[in-house]
Amino acid sequence: MATLEIKDLHVEIEGKEILKGVDLTINTNEIHAIMGPNGTGKSTLAQAIMGHPKYVVTSGTITLDGEDVLEMEVDERARAGIFLGMQYPSEITGVTNADFLRSAINAKREEGDEISLMKFIRELDSKMEILEMDEDMATRYLNEGFSGGEKKRNEILQLTMLKPKFAVLDEIDSGLDIDALKIVSKGINEMRGEDFGCLIITHYQRLLDYITPDTVHVMMQGKVVKSGGAELAHKLEEQGYDWIKEELGIEDETVGLEV
Ligand SMILES: Nc1ncnc2c1ncn2[C@@H]1O[C@H](COP(=O)(O)OP(=O)(O)O)[C@@H](O)[C@H]1O
Ligand SMILES: [Mg+2]
Repeated sequence: MATLEIKDLHVEIEGKEILKGVDLTINTNEIHAIMGPNGTGKSTLAQAIMGHPKYVVTSGTITLDGEDVLEMEVDERARAGIFLGMQYPSEITGVTNADFLRSAINAKREEGDEISLMKFIRELDSKMEILEMDEDMATRYLNEGFSGGEKKRNEILQLTMLKPKFAVLDEIDSGLDIDALKIVSKGINEMRGEDFGCLIITHYQRLLDYITPDTVHVMMQGKVVKSGGAELAHKLEEQGYDWIKEELGIEDETVGLEV
């Protein structure tokens, strides 16, 4: 079992404090969901875990099995087994999807122990089949001209090929039609198991109809203010967030626009 532990995390963007003390512990074999209104810092948390330079950690800790993640460069975090699936994956011209995946897999392996081409292709074929992806997706340039749904599916392809210990999936469901949503969920559910932990950031209960989380957290104003079981997501879907504010005595505050 592995553990990703976030303690009292404070994060600033351009001098403004966005995360104000986030505590969160995720073990492998667990799927956690974070929900919350726009602009409360959900994506900021994802970026801070992955080490985006714009998101400055001012205090608190992130550890992976006791190892200081904040000390690691972005690529070291990936090699340590952390994966970030993003709302808007970037396009990389000149690098095919398959080449990208193969280098990413090999970057995690020791020198001299690279994955064989045959094994790679076999695995790629089988995962693409599960995700119902067109064959030509492998040879196209990474994300270039991919539709929104194709990008999301491709993120899940990366996930299933790279097999990280922990995945942070930031609104992986936004803009997906129902069929794509089911396929993406199938890919994530395939990963479930003793060696995999996942943090799903989502606005909607919808995705959680297909992936039942073990724990649901609510984030408001830069903190995790409430945690519960899968039923919490249903309650949020039905009743919104006001009852939590009332319950916890949180004052309304103008929240920034989502970027
Ligand atoms: N790159 C950025 N530059 C400046 N402000 C940002 C940036 N990213 C996020 N913010 C601000 O941080 C706050 C939290 O944003 P975000 O983490 O994206 O929220 P969420 O994902 O919960 O909607 C918002 O007020 C947003 O405007
Ligand atoms: Mg966001």
